[in-house]
Amino acid sequence: MRPSKVTLYEVGPRDGLQAEAHMVTVEDKIALIDLLTRSGLTYIEAASFVSAKWVPQMADAAAVMAGIWRAPRTTYPVLTPNLQGYEAARDARAEVVAIFGAASETFSQRNINCSIDESLERFGMVTQSARAQGIRVRGYVSTVIACPYEGPIDPEKVAEVAVKMLDLGCYEISLGDTIGVGTPSDVERLLDVVTARVPREKLAVHFHDTYGQALANILTSLDYSIATIDASVGGLGGCPYAPGASGNVATEDVLYMLNGLGIDTGVNIDEVVRAAWFISDVLGRPPRSKVANAMGKP
Ligand code: HMG
Ligand code: MG
Repeated sequence: MRPSKVTLYEVGPRDGLQAEAHMVTVEDKIALIDLLTRSGLTYIEAASFVSAKWVPQMADAAAVMAGIWRAPRTTYPVLTPNLQGYEAARDARAEVVAIFGAASETFSQRNINCSIDESLERFGMVTQSARAQGIRVRGYVSTVIACPYEGPIDPEKVAEVAVKMLDLGCYEISLGDTIGVGTPSDVERLLDVVTARVPREKLAVHFHDTYGQALANILTSLDYSIATIDASVGGLGGCPYAPGASGNVATEDVLYMLNGLGIDTGVNIDEVVRAAWFISDVLGRPPRSKVANAMGKP
């Protein structure tokens, strides 16, 4: 059954900006996050505490976290691949950190320079410290449909990694179609297997829109009672270690569909569109979303 309420988990300031070659200033990142906060979003992924050599755009994560306006109803998660990242995130007063693994060995190696098993060991150190310090941990599983290096991925492998991350103490697992190749039948095959082993209320979906399938895939996920959807303002995004991956599904496109379906999110679409135009102007191009273009610049 479709949920009557959905949590939109905004990833634009992190997933959206991480692959941008144009360096966005700290001030503009803060302004973007503050605009998104005004829209009523309750989760805005603000930055990554990763190596600046690997992802230069995220080098200013601490300054971003120090400068944003933190609304009481909103949480600002950050990505942490290891204990070093976790400690920096904690010092930056993150309330939620996200560990990010993969269902593909090659993608794990290319993205975080270790095997899946090694990554789970590192994540265990993060979740242990986080638990002791009252910080919640989200888990991502990437390449849930296909890997840019290995091709199609077995849903059983996704379920196996998701269960391990849940066992480490993640409050939620986000299933990432990192390169945006899945269609609704792939999503059905995936969710048939994963929901048999992970409670639906602990699952989120994270679709990149490379082949224009993301909204259809989200609708399919709603029919599996998935009630947390990752999206990126203006359709920004891509993973630097996933060749060919384009942006995440646009927050305003998802919101328009959810509004039409009568599903409550508590998010104001006009404010999201304002944020989409703001960051697109910074990047010097129009927003990638249908809705921001249809509604026009506010
Ligand atoms: P490594 O080189 O194996 O790390 O990188 P290391 O432990 O050997 O350390 C090497 C150097 O990195 C050292 O510095 C460390 O201090 C530093 P040096 O002594 O050479 O000056 N270092 C760090 N610096 C800052 N923060 C840290 C950190 N850790 C070590 N946390 C590492 C391993 C994981 C750090 C590296 O591979 C990395 O940063 N990868 C970035 C991966 C990334 O951000 N990818 C994009 C996000 S994932 C994604 O987009 C998918 C998702 O959206 C879901 C989906 O779409 O599927 C989530
Ligand atoms: Mg992503």
